[in-house]
Amino acid sequence: MKLQSGKFVVTRANGADPMTLNQDGLVIGRMPSCDVYLNHPTVSRIHAGINCIGGQYFLINLSVSNSLTLNGRSLQAEHVDFLADGDVIQLGPYALVVSRQKDVLSLLVSHQFTSDVTNSTRRLPALTAIIPQSATAEVSDVLKVFWEKRSREKEESGTPLRPVSKPLPGKAQINWRPTRDLTPSWRGGLFTWTLLTIALASIGAIYFYPQIFAPADLSNPHIRSSFVGTEAGFIANRPNANACSTCHSWNESVDNACVKCHKADAFHATNTAAHQAAGVNCSSCHTEHKGENFAPRLAAFDSCMTCHNDGNKTLYNGKGVSTPHGKAHGYPVEDNQWKWGGLKPETAAMSPEVIKYQETGDSEQIRRNKEFHAVHMYRVAPAPGMKTDAGGAMSCSSCHQSFDPLDRETPRQTCAACHNGYVDRQTKQTVISADRPNCVSCHVQHYYDKNRWREFLTDSTKNRRAAEMDVQIKNLGGAEASER
Ligand code: HEC
Ligand code: HEC
Ligand code: HEC
Ligand code: HEC
Ligand code: HEC
Ligand code: HEC
Ligand code: HEC
Repeated sequence: MKLQSGKFVVTRANGADPMTLNQDGLVIGRMPSCDVYLNHPTVSRIHAGINCIGGQYFLINLSVSNSLTLNGRSLQAEHVDFLADGDVIQLGPYALVVSRQKDVLSLLVSHQFTSDVTNSTRRLPALTAIIPQSATAEVSDVLKVFWEKRSREKEESGTPLRPVSKPLPGKAQINWRPTRDLTPSWRGGLFTWTLLTIALASIGAIYFYPQIFAPADLSNPHIRSSFVGTEAGFIANRPNANACSTCHSWNESVDNACVKCHKADAFHATNTAAHQAAGVNCSSCHTEHKGENFAPRLAAFDSCMTCHNDGNKTLYNGKGVSTPHGKAHGYPVEDNQWKWGGLKPETAAMSPEVIKYQETGDSEQIRRNKEFHAVHMYRVAPAPGMKTDAGGAMSCSSCHQSFDPLDRETPRQTCAACHNGYVDRQTKQTVISADRPNCVSCHVQHYYDKNRWREFLTDSTKNRRAAEMDVQIKNLGGAEASER
């Protein structure tokens, strides 16, 4: 009878990678150097060994003080038994389930209570049933020789905590320290699940009750789930219906969302080049979340002077603002001359009767003068109280009191008749008082807005401009598919 090298595979029930060993004997015990390390006070430092002899695997109990059972039956100290597929070895709270495949012996190590294992049904066959009587003693001897030396060697390598002398019974308990070996980590799991539950509840709240996350209610126009429309038509291509994701999404700025929705037959949202460059955008002038009675359109009229004044020291993309028109809210006269850049190309494109003056070879001053007169004659309806021609339309004398010499003084004072003050067309509410300039009347913010400045245009101009605007809006990509 000769000892052979055995092939062992040790798997732990906690999911760690299986360990494969190719060696003479497998050491089981509480010493960290053991091949199968079982950390519990009821397990001995070197508790058991397994060896291969003649193709058979044998288990030997090397512990005097702690018990070892095989399939629920106690194996005495220094006693040997052979191992078969399905056997269960029990040491302290650990169960080692044996399985054999060809010449490989596998052990599945799990933390268990003894009662589960003692129910095992395998009847322990006598050692002699497999190995002839004569051989039994021989196997036992071979193993004892093998293990005697080894278990003594280990015990003699003392540590400061454990003196070299033979351990007294009970000493093991004093030195024993718990590790998290094979302990199921349910506490961490509980923590993770708590976090997950809270996260899910929050996501659910965002989904079902998004309003509670809003700084304040949206304005009525954005709460409504149907259109009201304006006299010129619709200004958006679908209702917002109190939704949040229409304006707020993960991958898009709020301002982009505004533009997408505000592309309709009567309105196509754009920004002026100067404001775009300065980072002044939809939400800078209109804002939202100010309660349901807030009117984002009217709020924009007020925004101009809140921002454009000497007291505002904020820089917008590096650009500062100041009180316009030479520190007075007046009209642009410099060195006693009109200083006007003319119509913006976008507006001019919608006024053919004006644009023709831009194409002549006149000097800049003359060109502007012609352009100004073209804008204000024959297409503008006179303000109440203004001198008119016989047909009630604007005439030269609406502004000039004399032509020889030319009256340059009165025209400058007429501007306020139309460009000051503003009463909202829907609510009839005074937005800008009569003695304050209406900035937007001269500085158009939305070129493609059919509602703009309608009250002062003659009907024929209104229709002509509306027709031109239809062409322009169509060229811009038109109104997006609407769900009306
Ligand atoms: C999902 C589409 C949608 C989005 C997105 C949207 N709006 Fe509107 N908006 C509408 C509708 C619909 C109306 C009301 C039109 C009507 O009733 O005819 C409206 C009305 C307005 C008005 C006029 C309200 C008034 O006071 O009369 C303004 C100004 C306005 N929106 C600005 C914005 C701005 C700025 C943004 C981006 C922050 C924005 N909108 C985003 C659909 C939208
Ligand atoms: C019509 C467009 C629009 C809709 C619809 C909208 N918001 Fe807003 N929201 C804005 C604008 C504009 C701001 C201000 C952004 C800024 O100042 O940069 C804002 C700001 C916010 C803020 C504050 C963010 C900050 O930076 O301070 C929260 C929170 C918010 N919205 C939540 C919501 C919720 C919840 C809803 C759905 C009920 C909603 N919003 C619907 C336009 C909208
Ligand atoms: C510099 C300020 C300013 C900026 C920037 C601005 N607006 Fe306006 N907006 C106004 C003013 C002022 C009005 C009112 C003009 C009028 O009715 O004549 C207005 C009107 C509107 C209206 C109502 C149109 C109507 O006919 O009732 C909508 C819708 C609108 N803006 C959307 C937008 C969107 C979308 C953006 C972003 C591309 C934007 N605005 C950027 C100032 C601004
Ligand atoms: C948030 C601040 C802010 C608001 C609100 C604002 N502006 Fe401006 N505006 C600016 C800045 C910044 C510039 C760029 C100044 C520069 O380029 O030096 C500018 C430029 C201008 C210009 C020069 C344009 C050009 O073509 O040269 C005009 C005109 C103007 N704004 C009018 C208005 C009107 C009208 C309103 C209200 C409807 C308004 N602004 C609202 C900040 C603002
Ligand atoms: C009667 C027409 C009219 C009114 C009303 C008006 N402006 Fe002007 N504004 C002009 C003209 C014309 C210019 C010269 C530049 C140009 O050709 O556009 C100008 C120039 C400007 C400039 C750029 C030059 C500068 O002085 O900084 C700003 C900014 C400006 N205006 C803001 C405003 C604001 C804000 C209001 C409202 C308080 C307003 N304007 C009211 C006609 C007007
Ligand atoms: C809306 C008011 C308004 C109306 C209407 C108007 N003008 Fe003028 N006109 C002005 C202003 C403002 C100036 C520039 C004054 C200045 O140079 O300070 C001007 C300047 C002129 C000039 C001088 C141009 C130059 O070389 O400096 C002539 C000529 C003139 N107008 C003729 C007319 C005639 C003819 C009509 C009728 C067809 C007319 N205006 C209608 C406001 C008006
Ligand atoms: C009878 C009313 C009335 C009077 C008086 C008047 N305007 Fe106008 N003005 C208008 C109307 C209406 C428009 C818009 C025309 C359009 O959009 O086709 C306009 C447009 C303008 C614009 C160009 C706006 C744009 O579309 O770019 C300027 C600048 C302007 N006016 C300045 C003046 C000045 C300066 C005076 C005084 C000398 C004056 N207006 C007197 C009614 C008037």
